[in-house]
Amino acid sequence: MTRKPEHDMTKMEPAESGERKITIVLATNNRDKVREIKPLLERLASGVYVRTLAELGAETEIEETETTLEGNAKLKARTIFNLLSPRFSWLVSFADDTGLEVAALDGEPGVYSARFAPVPEGTAPTYDDNVRHLLARMEATDRRNAIFRTVIAMKGRIPGRNGPVVFEETVEGSVEGEITRERKGENGFGYDPVFRVASARATFAQMSTEEKNRLSHRSRAVDKAAGTLGAILKANL
Ligand code: IMP
Repeated sequence: MTRKPEHDMTKMEPAESGERKITIVLATNNRDKVREIKPLLERLASGVYVRTLAELGAETEIEETETTLEGNAKLKARTIFNLLSPRFSWLVSFADDTGLEVAALDGEPGVYSARFAPVPEGTAPTYDDNVRHLLARMEATDRRNAIFRTVIAMKGRIPGRNGPVVFEETVEGSVEGEITRERKGENGFGYDPVFRVASARATFAQMSTEEKNRLSHRSRAVDKAAGTLGAILKANL
């Protein structure tokens, strides 16, 4: 469900003034996501620069402690905004959280998609561990439908006509599909080899990045986020 945007127009003093360049920082260390998101945001507007945490020398691990995609996305956006806020007058932090919701598993793995397969304490499952675990859990069922859902949270401070404007927004994108019985395709990451998109009759792993970007949960969410951000910029710059 897409939440109605809430504009928090709290006024703040900028760390420096005069410069109208706006930096969008992608609050993720995941190179796979950066590869998908960056080109979608770069076409947003002139004077807007998209940077990764690594490019800003700010790589940091944020523990996803919330129990919803929206909670985790907001947590990441706020943490990165607070971290980088002193360095930039005009900054938008952009964080996504994604989950695969499988009907036959009552919505699992959902918000726990990265940590689905059981592994020894102190270690994290690989993409391969998670896919194997998913196929094993679904071996006995013909009910294969699933949804990939991405929530994006943005927290920003931009120059407004009457001073700085601070905002926080969340948007959501999803795509319907089904879990295949075996892996198909070599591209993408995570659950891509076993998620067959309903409208395409191919798994994400059988698509190029461009094809996946045309219809993925993440690109739908990024398109909405770009629309929301574009509207906020237009209303204030
Ligand atoms: P995250 O919490 O947003 O990093 O996503 C949780 C997990 O979902 C990741 O570790 C991946 O296994 C999986 N995931 C996220 N996005 C995708 C995608 O686009 N395709 C396949 N798997 C994904």
